[in-house]
Amino acid sequence: MERKVKTLEQFIIQKEQNFPYATGQFSKIIRDIVLPSRIINREVNKAGLVDILGLTGDTNIQGEQVQKLDLFANEAMIDSLFKGRMVCAIGSEENDDFIIKEGSTGKYIVLMDPLDGSSNIDVNVSIGTIFSVYRRKNMDGPLKKEDLLQKGVDQVAAGYILYGSSTMLVYTTGHGVNGFTLDPSIGEFLLSHPNMKFPDKCDTYSVNEGHYRNFFEGTKEYLRHIKRDSPKPYKSRYIGSLVADFHRNLLKGGIFMYPGTVEKPNGKLRLTFEANPMAFIAEQAGGYASTGLERILEIDPDTLHQRTPLFVGNKEEVLKLEGFIRKYGKTGETIIQS
Ligand code: AHG
Ligand code: MN
Ligand code: MN
Repeated sequence: MERKVKTLEQFIIQKEQNFPYATGQFSKIIRDIVLPSRIINREVNKAGLVDILGLTGDTNIQGEQVQKLDLFANEAMIDSLFKGRMVCAIGSEENDDFIIKEGSTGKYIVLMDPLDGSSNIDVNVSIGTIFSVYRRKNMDGPLKKEDLLQKGVDQVAAGYILYGSSTMLVYTTGHGVNGFTLDPSIGEFLLSHPNMKFPDKCDTYSVNEGHYRNFFEGTKEYLRHIKRDSPKPYKSRYIGSLVADFHRNLLKGGIFMYPGTVEKPNGKLRLTFEANPMAFIAEQAGGYASTGLERILEIDPDTLHQRTPLFVGNKEEVLKLEGFIRKYGKTGETIIQS
């Protein structure tokens, strides 16, 4: 039987051949992200052994400090990206400010959430790494705000690594979305999900519904609608790791929601590290991402860590949700206690 296996490396080379002027710099970033992801994957898989190998903050058998996994992931990614020399600045959820590589000639900026869903580490539930790549706008002089904080539409690549029952890399460079599964026996990512698209149907919603009473009225009304008015009630699936929730909805059809609440009108998730990369992937897979009122990718960011409400998934469904939110005025911030 002929087996048509394509490794990530073969896929990257094939794509480069479609662009005769490609310098290879951009592909190198993908490689510089994938390398530490394999190391993070190894550490994630050992997470359940902390009780016998040493808790975070302890000194392990080799005399090394056992690091928190999110900090370990952060350092592994930064180290690889700067050593690769294509990247001049990194913004990470784990760092207050941009980390600038002085004297770098790298043309690219990476924003990342090195470990997403970190509350799930200790309970053996899927977590991920999210990344987003921008091209520097001005090559002369010091980096400016317009280089560092660009709109999501300006992303040149985005993706995630999901540490789940299998480890997967899903990414886009603006020409569709492709998924690769790590074959642990050979340590290679193999193309397993070419040209990923949201299925036509959408019958799942993912939200932390424990916050229901604090949601704004439009969000509440949408939730009541999908539960009471649809011919068949939607399935509820919420893992609490954006990467895992998004990935399931991408494969099965669904809407992920992290709405604003009375206390936190902008919700919890970060525009730069979480919403923008997922929005880019979603749109490339035929889906859509919104704040409830506007397209995520059009937001002009002010700060590295700014938050945004996020609704992402099947396009029709997100547009339907926007309809409910818009009914309640320009900000959608209406609340009726119920
Ligand atoms: P992180 O672990 O990077 O801080 O992100 C956690 C995020 C996201 O993955 C998830 O969708 C959300 O927090 C879950 O939040 P709740 O526990 O409030 O539902
Ligand atoms: Mn996160
Ligand atoms: Mn994180």
